[in-house]
Amino acid sequence: MNILVTGGAGFIGSHVVELLLEQGHTVRVYDKLVGQVHGGSGPRYLPNDVEFVQGDMSDRAALDHALAGIDQVVHLAAEVGVGQSMYEIQRYVDANTGGTALLLDVIVNGPHKIGKIVVASSMSIYGEGSYSCSEHGDQAPRLRTEEQLRERNWEPGCPVCGRALAPLPTAESKPLFPTSVYAISKMDQELLCLSVGAAYGIDVTAVRYFNAYGPRQALSNPYTGVAAIFSGRLLNGQRPIVMEDGEQMRDFIHVKDVARATVLALTAPKAAGKAVNVGVGDPISITEVARTLAKALGREDLEPDITHQYRAGDIRHCWADPSLAKELLDFEPEYRFRDRGVQELIGWVSHQTAEDNAVAANDELRKRGLTV
Ligand SMILES: NC(=O)c1ccc[n+]([C@@H]2O[C@H](COP(=O)([O-])OP(=O)(O)OC[C@H]3O[C@@H](n4cnc5c(N)ncnc54)[C@H](O)[C@@H]3O)[C@@H](O)[C@H]2O)c1
Ligand SMILES: [Zn+2]
Repeated sequence: MNILVTGGAGFIGSHVVELLLEQGHTVRVYDKLVGQVHGGSGPRYLPNDVEFVQGDMSDRAALDHALAGIDQVVHLAAEVGVGQSMYEIQRYVDANTGGTALLLDVIVNGPHKIGKIVVASSMSIYGEGSYSCSEHGDQAPRLRTEEQLRERNWEPGCPVCGRALAPLPTAESKPLFPTSVYAISKMDQELLCLSVGAAYGIDVTAVRYFNAYGPRQALSNPYTGVAAIFSGRLLNGQRPIVMEDGEQMRDFIHVKDVARATVLALTAPKAAGKAVNVGVGDPISITEVARTLAKALGREDLEPDITHQYRAGDIRHCWADPSLAKELLDFEPEYRFRDRGVQELIGWVSHQTAEDNAVAANDELRKRGLTV
């Protein structure tokens, strides 16, 4: 197959590209090389036998050209900073929602014969994860109130009786309550691709990635994933900065597993027209992530700096119910963060240098009242 990977020069994209080449596909990458991700350098992680086109998702002519002769599209290009999206609102909506709209517009109005699109969605579109109340059963709470957060009362309450809820794995059927501009734009990307695909007979699968970590995540980008940000801090002899009380739980999935699930979605007939979680299903607290990374880097002295602060739109817990991915994609993760996953990450991190931009990024949010 001839496969176009948008955002293919990025963290997840470069791993997807490697896997596609291993399977004998011909790959073209379309990527703008956003400065805060690539640090002004060229595509560092792309093998020579990939055709690289530098272009923006807002450039109709360049996209049209990049789609020539393509059979399948993996659409990963996006601006990815949740906090940053809350003040660079137009930039995020233009790149993510606008870029996806243009990609689909070019596909359906041009001579292109695209049989399959896999679009990167995100766990962020759920908002809070799934929970249960001992009295009222399964619940999908909205954001915690400002008042409870000011009291440093972190656990979401039951929408019916207010009792503290117990978190559960989150399945694809949970109602979507995106709570940031980034999350709204990811939901747009997913819904645009699924609905245009259904109307035009293009097979579309949305892959809802949970928290990806692993080699090549931009360590100096303060708006990227928490495992990379913590690694960058630790490398510079700084303590990882942890929001709330650090007991919030997420689902960390190794980038090689993310790439494998993405490539499986290209060919799984049962996944057509579906949105599928790509997670491990194994919750881990943010404090544990910080401690595990510090230990693996031999810096257990750098204890997490637990701030008891919170950010606008942050959720408490969300991890995947991975059963639909098993059923539709025959996907099961091979890495666990606590063992092989963290070792792989650190094997790479320990040969890197990182600029520490985390404090400046947090100050930016605080200045705008987005961190309290
Ligand atoms: N990393 C995660 O934990 C995670 C979780 C959920 C979803 N995702 C999604 O996965 C995809 C890949 O993310 P990533 O973590 O590899 O991030 P990344 O920043 O490393 O990769 C994104 C790539 O897209 C490119 N890009 C951004 N805007 C563009 C534009 N306007 N035109 C052309 N190219 C553009 C960037 O230059 C970059 O190379 C994104 O869609 C992201 O929303 C990632
Ligand atoms: Zn209740």
